[in-house]
This record gives sequence, structure tokens and C-alpha cells, in this order.
Amino acid sequence: MRLVRAVLGLLVVVLGGWLATMVFQKPTEAQPPREFTSSRQCMECHAEVYAEWETSWHAQSWIDPDVRALSNDFANTDCIDCHAPRPIFESGIGKRVLPRAARRSEGVDCIACHLLPEGGVAGTLDAASAACRPVAMRDLAKPEFCGVCHNQHKTVDQWRESKYPDQGISCVDCHMPLRDGDPNRGRDHRCLGGHDIELVKSAVELRARRDGTALSVEVENVGAGHSFPTDERSRASDVFWRPKVAPGAQPEAWRHLYRFRSPYRHEVDIEDTWLPAHATWSGRVEDPGSGPLEVAIFYKLSPYWTDPNAPDPDNEARLLHLVEVAP
Ligand code: HEC
Ligand code: HEC
Ligand code: HEC
Ligand code: HEC
Ligand code: HEC
Repeated sequence: MRLVRAVLGLLVVVLGGWLATMVFQKPTEAQPPREFTSSRQCMECHAEVYAEWETSWHAQSWIDPDVRALSNDFANTDCIDCHAPRPIFESGIGKRVLPRAARRSEGVDCIACHLLPEGGVAGTLDAASAACRPVAMRDLAKPEFCGVCHNQHKTVDQWRESKYPDQGISCVDCHMPLRDGDPNRGRDHRCLGGHDIELVKSAVELRARRDGTALSVEVENVGAGHSFPTDERSRASDVFWRPKVAPGAQPEAWRHLYRFRSPYRHEVDIEDTWLPAHATWSGRVEDPGSGPLEVAIFYKLSPYWTDPNAPDPDNEARLLHLVEVAP
């Protein structure tokens, strides 16, 4: 009986081990090198990465309606460069990105970021026998790599001036974190940014208190590795306040206190008010009244109010944080 059990136990171990190697075996080894002409080819063997990338704004960069409108459907050919680029390792880190002629609808795709000019792909390991021939290349995860497209409004320079480089925290740590925090699971290719409200909420802390008869408000950049907001000049974040009314009563209109934004070049009258990494902005409202107050910070992808004289943040922007101040 004991012997039978031991034999059965051994069988389970052996069979289990064999099954595990079948199931967990890496996609395929020892394939002939392949020519890559579309990111869809990568999907065959890297389905998880592909599914994440497909939802990213990198994948939308050619079809994004806002980009198409502003570039006049890319009649402005300067706009093609970063929105449908040739491989970065071909044009070179630190150099201007070049536009590509083919498969533009794939936007900033697998090939643009990974393909090496001599064939093969940049990755974290060497596997000459795999179909895509990955080569370990530290350059891929460096801020300078992202910077070929993301430094036109100085995002990388802002990061360099922050405390994050000394702490070893770079773009990929916040925008392409390790899946489940596991160093063996690779990095999240959704590349979340301003379209992800939870990420934007983590960028700032809002504080408000009474200071004599005045209202004192502070916003601190606690989570963005660069200025808040950054990169796209169309992003704006606004601080508002209003008296808090009794539950059920008609709320008062929001009153504008401050805007964080870097203006477009033609908006010569507007000051650059981006909030640098780790910095705190303080503002005051004299005599807001002695009743309860509400203070809120909102974020907008596009800076314009439909009616600039009657801003209605509840309808046009997304709430980041709200604090109440007692009477
Ligand atoms: C040097 C590279 C580069 C060039 C050239 C470029 N862009 Fe972009 N563009 C970017 C990057 C990087 C972003 C993402 C920034 C962000 O999300 O804050 C972006 C984002 C945008 C967005 C915002 C999309 C959104 O989802 O809200 C618009 C609109 C846009 N670009 C239009 C244009 C137009 C129009 C041109 C040509 C005049 C152009 N871009 C040329 C790099 C570039
Ligand atoms: C026929 C299957 C196959 C195709 C198609 C394929 N790959 Fe791979 N890829 C592999 C295998 C196998 C490995 C190495 C196994 C591993 O992850 O340990 C690998 C590894 C990689 C790595 C390195 C992984 C790491 O952990 O650093 C990168 C990057 C990569 N592939 C990118 C791509 C890109 C981009 C494409 C499309 C242009 C592509 N691959 C197409 C099978 C494939
Ligand atoms: C914007 C640039 C960019 C795009 C687009 C991109 N990647 Fe990556 N990829 C990276 C970076 C950065 C890393 C992390 C490298 C490191 O950790 O050293 C990475 C890592 C990987 C790895 C290693 C394992 C993992 O899951 O992280 C694979 C495989 C991979 N990418 C495949 C792809 C495929 C397939 C696509 C298209 C569906 C793609 N990548 C699109 C930049 C990109
Ligand atoms: C080849 C140019 C290019 C490279 C390289 C590149 N990006 Fe982008 N990135 C873009 C463009 C273009 C957009 C805007 C697409 C759109 O919204 O239409 C964008 C958008 C983004 C966004 C904003 C997403 C959102 O919610 O709007 C983030 C975050 C981002 N990229 C991070 C990175 C990081 C991190 C790296 C480096 C690993 C990187 N990118 C490399 C061109 C690039
Ligand atoms: C400590 C975490 C952290 C680091 C490091 C970091 N970021 Fe960010 N990033 C954020 C947060 C949070 C936001 C959202 C708030 C904002 O727009 O500033 C953001 C926003 C962005 C956006 C704006 C997206 C949009 O839709 O407008 C881009 C582009 C971006 N980061 C690129 C980068 C690049 C490139 C680097 C490296 C030089 C980098 N980030 C480093 C946290 C980080």
C-alpha cells in the first residue's frame, strides 16, 4: 500500500513537472530570424504586451481625433514625425525622430520603440534563438529614450532637475511600472498619463484652512516626476472655491482662484504656471465669509471653457480633490 502510494506520488510529481514545462514554456525557440513589417506580428508571441499597448495613447497617436484636427489630418507633415515614427534606434537617441511612410495607423508602435537597425529588438535579455532576436539594451528604459518625443516641452529636463534621478526613479517606474510589482513579469505597456484620472490625482495634494478672516490654500506636487501638468500645453488644472450650502440646496457657482498651465507660443499674455516637482503653490482669498467653504482642484485635457465668463468645472473638467473648511 505504502509502495503504491509512493509510486503514485512520484508519478504525480513527474507528470506535473512535464505538464508545467509544457504550459510555461516560452513561446518558441530556435526560429529563423524574421522580417518585421507590422506590430501585429508581435502579437502572436507577446499577446499580453500587445493587448496593453493597443489601449495606450501610443497606439492612438495617428488616429487620435484631437491630433487629426490640429494637424489638419496631417497635411502639416511636421506632425507625422513623433505620431508615426521610424524606429528610434535607427534615427538615434538625442536626435530628431523621423517620419515613416508605411503602416502609419499603428502610431507609436512596437517596431518604433524596439526594432534595431541591424535587425533584432531591444529588450532586457539576449535570446539569439528567438524569432525576434532580442538584445539586452539599457538605453530602452532611459529617460533620454522617451525624450526623443517627450522633451519638446521639457518634460525630461524637468525630471532631471527634480530629486527623482538621485532616487533612481525614472519615467518607466511611474508610467510603465512592473506588472504586479514583479521584476520577472515585465512592464505595463498601457503607459498611463493625463487620460487616467487616478494617476493625475496622485500628482498633487490640496490643503485649505482659515488664516484669520482669510482662506489659505496650498497645492503641492507630490507625485509627478516633473512639472504639473506637463508636456502637452493643452493640459490645465484649476483651483476653485465657493461657500458650502446645506445639503439639497442649490450650490453656489465656483469662484476661480488659480490655474496651473503652460501657454501655447501665441498666447503671449499668459504666464507659465506649471508647478515643478516637489514644489508647493500657496494662494489666499481675503474675507470669503465665515460660513463653511469648499475648495477643489480640477484637471482639463483641453484648457478652454465653453464660456470663459462662467466656468463650469463640474461639466467640463474632472475633479481631482475637494476639501471642506469649517466655519
Ligand atoms: C517632437 C515630437 C512631436 C511632434 C513633432 C508633434 N507631437 Fe504631438 N505629441 C507629442 C507627444 C510626446 C505627445 C504627448 C504629450 C502629452 O500627452 O502630454 C503629443 C500629444 C499631442 C496631442 C494631444 C493628444 C491628446 O490625446 O490629448 C495633440 C493634439 C498633438 N500632439 C498634436 C500635434 C500636432 C498638431 C503636431 C504638429 C504641429 C504635433 N503634435 C507634432 C510629440 C510630438
Ligand atoms: C514567433 C514568436 C515571436 C515573435 C513573432 C516576436 N517575438 Fe519577441 N520574443 C520571443 C521569444 C521566444 C522571446 C524570448 C523569450 C523570453 O521572453 O524569455 C522574445 C523576447 C522578446 C523581447 C525581450 C524580452 C525581455 O524580457 O526583455 C522583446 C523586447 C521582444 N521579444 C519584442 C518583440 C517585438 C517588438 C516583436 C515584433 C516586432 C516580437 N518580439 C516578435 C518570441 C517572439
Ligand atoms: C513607447 C515605447 C514602447 C512601445 C511602443 C512598446 N514598448 Fe515594449 N518596452 C518598452 C520599454 C521602455 C520596455 C522596458 C525595458 C526595460 O525594462 O529595460 C519594454 C519592454 C518590453 C518587453 C520585455 C518584457 C515586458 O513585458 O516588459 C517586451 C516583450 C516588449 N516590450 C514588447 C513590446 C511589444 C510586442 C510592443 C507592441 C505591442 C511594445 N513592446 C511596444 C518600450 C516600448
Ligand atoms: C516616438 C515618439 C515617442 C516615444 C519614443 C515615446 N512616446 Fe510617449 N507619446 C508619444 C505620443 C505621440 C503621445 C501622444 C499620443 C496621443 O495622445 O495622440 C504619447 C503619449 C504618452 C503618454 C500620455 C498618455 C495619456 O494619457 O495621454 C505618456 C504617459 C507617455 N507617452 C509616456 C512615454 C514614456 C514613459 C516613454 C519612454 C519609455 C515614451 N512615452 C516614449 C510619443 C512617444
Ligand atoms: C514620480 C512619478 C513620475 C515620474 C518619475 C515621471 N512621471 Fe510623468 N507623470 C506622473 C504623473 C502623476 C502625471 C500626471 C500629472 C501631470 O500631468 O503632471 C504624469 C504625467 C505625464 C505626462 C502627461 C500626460 C498627458 O496626458 O498630458 C507625460 C507625457 C509624462 N508624464 C511623461 C514622463 C516622462 C517622459 C518622464 C521621465 C522623464 C516622466 N513622465 C516621469 C508621474 C511621473
